[in-house]
Amino acid sequence: MSGTLAQAFLCCEPGPVLFSEEGSAEAVAASFAETEDPRLREVVTSLVHHLHAFVKDVELTEEEWAAAIDFLTRTGQKCDDVRQEFILLSDVLGVSMLVETINHRAGGTGTESTVLGPFHMVESPPRELGDDIALDGKGTPCLVRGRVTGPDGEPIPGASVDAWQANDEGFYDVQQPGVQPEYNLRGLFTADDDGRFHFRTIEPRHYPIPYDGPVGELLAATGRHAFRPAHLHLIVSAPGYRPVTTHVFVAGSPYLDSDAVFGVKESLIRDVAEVDDPALAAKHHLPNPFHTLTFDLTLLRQDQGAP
Ligand SMILES: [Fe+2]
Repeated sequence: MSGTLAQAFLCCEPGPVLFSEEGSAEAVAASFAETEDPRLREVVTSLVHHLHAFVKDVELTEEEWAAAIDFLTRTGQKCDDVRQEFILLSDVLGVSMLVETINHRAGGTGTESTVLGPFHMVESPPRELGDDIALDGKGTPCLVRGRVTGPDGEPIPGASVDAWQANDEGFYDVQQPGVQPEYNLRGLFTADDDGRFHFRTIEPRHYPIPYDGPVGELLAATGRHAFRPAHLHLIVSAPGYRPVTTHVFVAGSPYLDSDAVFGVKESLIRDVAEVDDPALAAKHHLPNPFHTLTFDLTLLRQDQGAP
């Protein structure tokens, strides 16, 4: 290109987008225009536009901005190996559920997913079918059983069933080191040849998410409670199938209609039944009568229901 042409070309180029209240988002988004990774460019550009629109919508004051920075700083400072305050924040804002829902559209045939939650922080220990995961023996004994099948009802032999839950006082083992046995109420099971699994545990009960940090302050300041309805966490997976991260919720539990993290789906609620069967109770080393929670799961095949 000759010097004259280059000059002509340059003079016709649009000038830099200077910052202004009206054009703030465009100015900042333009600074990311050369981002090589197209997905990163898309995400950060959209984030800038939505964030600026939010600030303009509420006309954020400097004091509020400083309070927000302080809140986020303390949220990070609250995190450690066993406490994830940012996941809690994402949970109470419904973002965790939205991401989960978008990424695991079940297509109406698979078991619905729900939030992972902040307490799957350690690998569940492999256990044998029928084992008792309530290592401290506290709580109401409960037999959990179910069957893992594919979308056509075919059993999935050897499906992996990872289960974890809070204790009878509403705490996970990682929240009470030295109080609860390590790996209390956690177990990784392998379904039998018919896709069936069963194990002993305690009847889940409702509990509050940790509220002694910034997220708890947010809930208190906005008049929200911190409770989750009674549930058992599950991750079920098998080769060739899409894994599902889900819960089974206990019918009749308080807070089913106001879960602090928005995790409840109608299809995941089950009754805890009382069974009066001395022989069955003896087989499972349970007092008679005993409580059972039955939850069958359907996995989609790997190529089904992708977002
Ligand atoms: Fe939980």
